[in-house]
Amino acid sequence: MLSTNPITAQENKAATDSKWWKEAVVYQIYPRSFKDSDGDGIGDLKGIISKLDYVKSLGIDAVWLNPIYTSPNDDNGYDISNYREIMADFGTMEDFDLLLKEMHKRNIKLIMDLVVNHSSDEHEWFKQSRSSRDNPYRDYYHWWPAEKGKPPYRWSFFDVNSDAWKYDAQTNSYYLHYFSQKQPDLNWENPKVRNEVYDIMRFWLDKGIDGFRMDAFQFASKDTSWPELPKGFEKNIIKYYGVGPHLHEYLQEMNREVFSKYDIMTVAEGAGSSPEDALLFVDPNRKELNMAYHFESVDIGKHVKDFGLVKYKEIFSRYDKTFKDKGWLSIFLANHDQPRMVSKFGNDTPEFREISSKMLSTFVMSMRGTPYYYHGDELGMINIRFDSIDDYHDVDTRNKYFGLKNRGGDLKAFLEEQKQTARENGRTPFQWDTTANAGFTTGTPWLKVNPNYAIINAEAQEKDPNSVLNYFRKLVQLRKENPILIYGKYTLIDKDNPDVFAYTRELEGKKVLVVLNFSDKNVKINTGFNIKNAKVLIANYNNLAKDGLLRPYEAIIYKL
Ligand code: GLC
Repeated sequence: MLSTNPITAQENKAATDSKWWKEAVVYQIYPRSFKDSDGDGIGDLKGIISKLDYVKSLGIDAVWLNPIYTSPNDDNGYDISNYREIMADFGTMEDFDLLLKEMHKRNIKLIMDLVVNHSSDEHEWFKQSRSSRDNPYRDYYHWWPAEKGKPPYRWSFFDVNSDAWKYDAQTNSYYLHYFSQKQPDLNWENPKVRNEVYDIMRFWLDKGIDGFRMDAFQFASKDTSWPELPKGFEKNIIKYYGVGPHLHEYLQEMNREVFSKYDIMTVAEGAGSSPEDALLFVDPNRKELNMAYHFESVDIGKHVKDFGLVKYKEIFSRYDKTFKDKGWLSIFLANHDQPRMVSKFGNDTPEFREISSKMLSTFVMSMRGTPYYYHGDELGMINIRFDSIDDYHDVDTRNKYFGLKNRGGDLKAFLEEQKQTARENGRTPFQWDTTANAGFTTGTPWLKVNPNYAIINAEAQEKDPNSVLNYFRKLVQLRKENPILIYGKYTLIDKDNPDVFAYTRELEGKKVLVVLNFSDKNVKINTGFNIKNAKVLIANYNNLAKDGLLRPYEAIIYKL
């Protein structure tokens, strides 16, 4: 008999549609900053191998590795010059094969980054393409002949002059680069390009990797009639650059040609400008990708104090609503493109750093969606806040700085803002212990180590049962043991409360309540539930406060 209870029907649907990648916790490793094995100051694959027991001890199921392919490193590996080779800084293909073997031995899956909206300008395809107008590789990229005048303006994320068309004298033409000048956009309308990419994907999948994170892929399809875009379009770039006219066709073709032949997971970085857009990428009936992560919750502003918790809750709730019956999202608060989780959404002062890190981890591990957790957040690592442009390596910060300088802008204000927003806040080397350079390298680290490593490091936290690290491990375990935290229906409670994020999760007649105080003060809550005798599944304070009171950054999950 069909159930007449809508909740039960929906819950059952979610539970029967179970998949390993929905149940997985993904740990992101930025290889450059994780562990250096040879003293050159750059993290590498052998370094990762040496720390796999630590990675396994977190309880996570899969690792997403940022790009490790050969690259001139204009954008730290996101500009690839050979998709079938390992970057020398990181090691060799033998190291890679060993890494994969050692991960699989520990039951950890490996998700690789696939960067195919663009290549490096040092890729053989681009070298050929730029050499003459009739070269067979010419149509691998987007060119605009200069005799037609200047191409219609396109904004670039990383260009000093924010201009995405670069003049190339060799053929008297402009090429398109949404990112840096060294990252020319591939022309996905050319079937040869698509087939080249599918071959590359098969190369890695046949080695046994477990999935791809699709870098910036929502930008791959462009309106190549190159219309003039409305004034100010760059303020809403996803709307104008994301989900071009053929994007979904390409994804369906890719699924048919490649994904459908393997048991893997695929995740889109960015998926349009609305929950409805995002669903189109991952609706299982459409056979495109498995899950998407959206940008609304990280692009929202500098600090939760500025944009406000009510707005933040609304975003997560709106996305969850659209995805409640089908499709799947990832949940994340940070990655290599973001400042540190606790510096943005919590409070990284000595008084509250640990407790607010634990609160944020409770959120990531108890929402519906696959948690993506960025290395170092399990220690509560914080923003580095560089004072000088000389400390920054990132093409994003540097090009914006020098562009502003050319325009006579306020550089001091820019540097101040970067202390909160710069990507390198989240890229400083992992803090292993109290030895030189936090135990990351015996050489000179490629990016300065945060001097707070004497206090914040993995070794110290291993020994402390109350550490942020050990709390994270408990959370991962809790999620594993409670499918309700994975599949349960989400309902927001007390939506206008400016300090507390509270919600229930429900599955098969069971219910849990999550309460999270995002503020640095004591706040009263009234969830409407009798929590007096409810079992506490996990809490970030060691003792419980009186009913109805939450202390600063307190987080509790109750079983109702
Ligand atoms: C993605 C990556 C980012 C990179 C950009 C260009 O957003 O996460 O690090 O700079 O794509 O490839």
